[in-house]
Amino acid sequence: MKDLYKRLLEFTKCGVCQYTFDKGEILYANPGFVEMLGLGISHKELEGKLIKNVMVLVKGEKSIRKLLDEKGEIRGLEYHFRTRTGKDKWVILDAVINKSFTDAGKIVEAKACDITEIKYREMLKAQRLESIGILAGGIAHDFNNILTAILGNISLVKMESGGKKKLTDLLEEAEKASLSARKITQQFLTFAKGGVPLRKTINISHVVKDTSSISVRGGNVKCSFEVQKDLWPVRVDDGQVSQVINNLVINAEQAMPAGGKILIKIKNAVVKKDRILPLKAGKYVVISIKDNGVGISKQNLRKIFNPYFTTKENGRGLGLAVSYSVVLNHAGVITVDSKARKGTTFCIYLPADESGKVKEAPREKKVYPVKCRILFMDDEAIVRKIAGEMLEYIGCKADLVKNGKEAVLKYKAALKSKNPYNLVILDLTVSKGIGGKETVKELKKIDPDVKAVITSGYSYDPALVHYRKMGFLAAIKKPFSIEDLNKVLLRVLKEKGKTSSR
Ligand SMILES: Nc1ncnc2c1ncn2[C@@H]1O[C@H](COP(=O)(O)OP(=O)(O)OP(=O)(O)O)[C@@H](O)[C@H]1O
Ligand SMILES: [Mg+2]
Repeated sequence: MKDLYKRLLEFTKCGVCQYTFDKGEILYANPGFVEMLGLGISHKELEGKLIKNVMVLVKGEKSIRKLLDEKGEIRGLEYHFRTRTGKDKWVILDAVINKSFTDAGKIVEAKACDITEIKYREMLKAQRLESIGILAGGIAHDFNNILTAILGNISLVKMESGGKKKLTDLLEEAEKASLSARKITQQFLTFAKGGVPLRKTINISHVVKDTSSISVRGGNVKCSFEVQKDLWPVRVDDGQVSQVINNLVINAEQAMPAGGKILIKIKNAVVKKDRILPLKAGKYVVISIKDNGVGISKQNLRKIFNPYFTTKENGRGLGLAVSYSVVLNHAGVITVDSKARKGTTFCIYLPADESGKVKEAPREKKVYPVKCRILFMDDEAIVRKIAGEMLEYIGCKADLVKNGKEAVLKYKAALKSKNPYNLVILDLTVSKGIGGKETVKELKKIDPDVKAVITSGYSYDPALVHYRKMGFLAAIKKPFSIEDLNKVLLRVLKEKGKTSSR
């Protein structure tokens, strides 16, 4: 038996050692421990050395001695130290004080399993996520500027189409497709930055129907819908929820490579206190998405919401992780029920907002003329051009500038000339020079009553939610349509301060 223990100690990759509690003198170390320290000596040579001379304490970690003093014993603790050769090591540490050794005082017996490689892999994942966030931020910015031009032009053509149904329908499809392109970049942003939801009270069925139809367009999978009448409204960020629906519908489509039908049901549900679901009792709207695809095995079912878990050759394993975090941010849950080779049903529970009034965009979009002078700042030429055309269509006279400095100069000059601007519209971030936040501060110094609106392509930028704190009267998410712009102008110019008669 003794031999077995000895062989095990010499064989195991885990480090095992014994040292005195008071001085920290090593009495025994197995080969695994020596290898972990990377000192290039034998385990026999390590005996007699002091533990503090072979392991370096890392800032922020307590010494093992202190931990033992506090807790009496250490079990399964993740512990970080540095070797004398300067290598960072992470281990799962177990340590106890063996009181039966009396000669040398108290003895510490410790076992440390090296998890450095796993730790590095985790850190790499985190770094990759961070870089995805940075990359997505950049893409979203460029992409949204381009889409502003596309959407802007579409809305202008729509206005010029004279209400021809076929033409309007096609343009509306193009509009929806551009918006769904924008949502793809938001996928990463939501996950990497946990974006602030921009909520409004809506009937969720339109979002679900529009998104899922776009998601499966062109393939051999079709969606069919069953929507309960008198559906309760929900207060959600429609962009984020649409992203969730897109993820689930695409997964369902991919689960049925030979084609098939996705059944989407939307209904009201009352969740009682005694339910197993981690939800508060109350009213919910439930969206279920059912496919007859390949299904998910029992082992995989536990892992599907983990970031990077994928069984697909070209999958990123982000779709469900993003969906999970979005639904959680809305105080809801996602459940899944699946059988291998039979199919899968995902259910999303979103809290109902019964008292809320649904704010639907009117089906027939109209532009109401507004006559005023506007200063528009954006560093992208294509955005300036389309915004100028849209503002002109609405009936405004717009001056276009590319940065904060130019904006301040123009504003000053206009104020002096007694032909001031009624409104300034400023881009939050410009690549060169000062952006919207600083510009509005400068403008307030010149004219405390300045009316300003902020625009941003970073749709999760807190500035789009907390714009008032920064001195703006409204925020416009890029890309914007002519109707979005018109709506903001109508509202903002009514606000007290300056009047549009200027
Ligand atoms: N409807 C479904 N039917 C079968 N398996 C599914 C379904 N939905 C999800 N899965 C499983 O869950 C895994 C994770 O899904 P998730 O959407 O997070 O990532 P992905 O689809 O692999 O990649 P992507 O980042 O492109 O979405 C999938 O790889 C798949 O194995
Ligand atoms: Mg997916």
